[in-house]
Amino acid sequence: MCGIVGAIAKRNITPILIEGLRRLEYRGYDSAGVAVLVPGKGIQRTRAVGKVIELENALAKEPVQCHLGIAHTRWATHGKPAERNAHPHLSERLAIVHNGIIENHGPLRKRLTDLGYTFTSETDTEVVAHLLAHHYKEKPDLLCAFRSTLAELHGAYALGVIHQDEPDTLYCARMGSPLVIGEGSEERFVASDPLALLQVTDQFIYLEEGDHARLSLEGRDIWNRRNLPVEYPVLRYEHAALSLDKGEYRHYMLKEIHEQPSAIANTLEGTLAEDHVLTAVLGPDAETRLQDIQNIHIVACGTSYHAGLVARYWIEEQAGLPCQVEVASEYRYRQVAVPGNTLLITISQSGETADTLAALRHSKQQGYLASLAICNVAGSSLVREADWRLLTKAGPEIGVASTKAFTTQLTALLWFSTALAQTNNRAPEMISANVRALRTLPGLVEQALYLDGRIEQLAATFANKQHALFLGRGTHYPIAMEGALKLKEISYIHAEAYAAGELKHGPLALVDEDMPVVSIAPSDSLLEKLKSNLQEVRARGGQLINFACETAELDNGDGITHIHLPPASDSISPIVYSIPLQLLSYHVALVKGTDVDKPRNLAKSVTVE
Ligand code: F6R
Repeated sequence: MCGIVGAIAKRNITPILIEGLRRLEYRGYDSAGVAVLVPGKGIQRTRAVGKVIELENALAKEPVQCHLGIAHTRWATHGKPAERNAHPHLSERLAIVHNGIIENHGPLRKRLTDLGYTFTSETDTEVVAHLLAHHYKEKPDLLCAFRSTLAELHGAYALGVIHQDEPDTLYCARMGSPLVIGEGSEERFVASDPLALLQVTDQFIYLEEGDHARLSLEGRDIWNRRNLPVEYPVLRYEHAALSLDKGEYRHYMLKEIHEQPSAIANTLEGTLAEDHVLTAVLGPDAETRLQDIQNIHIVACGTSYHAGLVARYWIEEQAGLPCQVEVASEYRYRQVAVPGNTLLITISQSGETADTLAALRHSKQQGYLASLAICNVAGSSLVREADWRLLTKAGPEIGVASTKAFTTQLTALLWFSTALAQTNNRAPEMISANVRALRTLPGLVEQALYLDGRIEQLAATFANKQHALFLGRGTHYPIAMEGALKLKEISYIHAEAYAAGELKHGPLALVDEDMPVVSIAPSDSLLEKLKSNLQEVRARGGQLINFACETAELDNGDGITHIHLPPASDSISPIVYSIPLQLLSYHVALVKGTDVDKPRNLAKSVTVE
């Protein structure tokens, strides 16, 4: 997804802008650009299709010292990836960068064309540049012109603006797309993600929906959508101490897979007592508020949705509460029947996923008891707009394929299910068993990581395959779905997951010697059922790869590979079994030579619909 960086400082800001863009590369983009105000010369723009390094090379040809500038990585929505469509966009003496989508760009473009403006791109963003220039021409007061422009935009935007007539000012605004202000000492920055600015500051102000701001060396002014001045606290970025480089690892994804034991331990820190969970983590009156909950709706996208699917099994079985789970892109557009006292849970790594955020906003008119955001980014929009929050402490996740975010979401959800069970006076043995299991979880995940070498050998068997099936039952069915998603997204092998009992209702027709079938076969109450399903696969010549506990006593034979996992209790087993599936997709992607951390067509944070 698109990324924004802007800076005003006494020092030369070009290297800061470039480093900021580099730090946003993980989000996915197809072109990049920068506009700086060169003293005595005006705005100088440089753009390049492809990687940030291309932009850097272009800038190196004519290095300049400057103190005000904006930069952007673009992920094409309106108009194909091309230099003419890359940001910043210019109009007269101003330059702008934009994330999001301007829905009324069509009529605005027509009006501006009629007024004599010439468009050089197919983007919705250029409309904003000309509209601002037009308002400024009518009344040469940039703040007023900026406000008049914002008032005419429908859709989502985060904007950064510089103007030659105000060489000491950087303007920005947000509506539906995230934007933070970074505070330095006599210097200020703006970015769509704080990660871009950790090179220069760990102090951030998170703008609210509808806010706009004017930044200068001396200070900042922020106004809300009614143009009233607002003040926000400057927050220290919590994960700033964490290393953002790959360290000894070849890819961020591998590093993040290996960070899971500590990410899970961090997520659980301060949440567990000897034999019960500490519900006060949810806020001072959590105990009373939890008592009111009689139903749960969970809404999320992609991997986070899979975490919700696992949680449904836990919440219904352990807490005895009805629970339904839905993808946010569907939920946000339908009239949901909400039974009394229903809690809405949104799950998101980034907290900025457009569909999930829209689902939360949509829920506000549906009569929910309250909303809870389970999220990895403390200052994100989702966290700020939800009634309650439960933070996962995975640290920054850079690899596009979600790994440690997923297992920490599962950890938080198991904790939450236990909290509900505890509040509803469910069996104390089950609650203390969950607490014990959660304590052993980081160690078991560590043991599962030892399978790395074994899985690396196995990966070669996928190299020439076009398709794969993943099977699981119970809580491990959504884990099979997540395994299939991981394989698809980074190795580009078509993979589907089925609840193993569904095999005979259709997908069995696909099984032959060219179809690897991955089964997740922990020693639980459904193992015997799963064994029959696996025999159906072997009888058709399908190649079986079983992730199972040593005690599972699965059939041996040609075409069957077993990977043994450490024994884990039922509640945490889906979390432990996620690890080898992540490693499998990683190693298959290496064999296939794909771009593991930045798979084609995908973005880390999906901030447009
Ligand atoms: C897959 C993946 C995506 C995200 C989805 C939601 O590996 O990362 O499917 O899970 O885009 O993102 P968040 O969790 O940030 O809302």
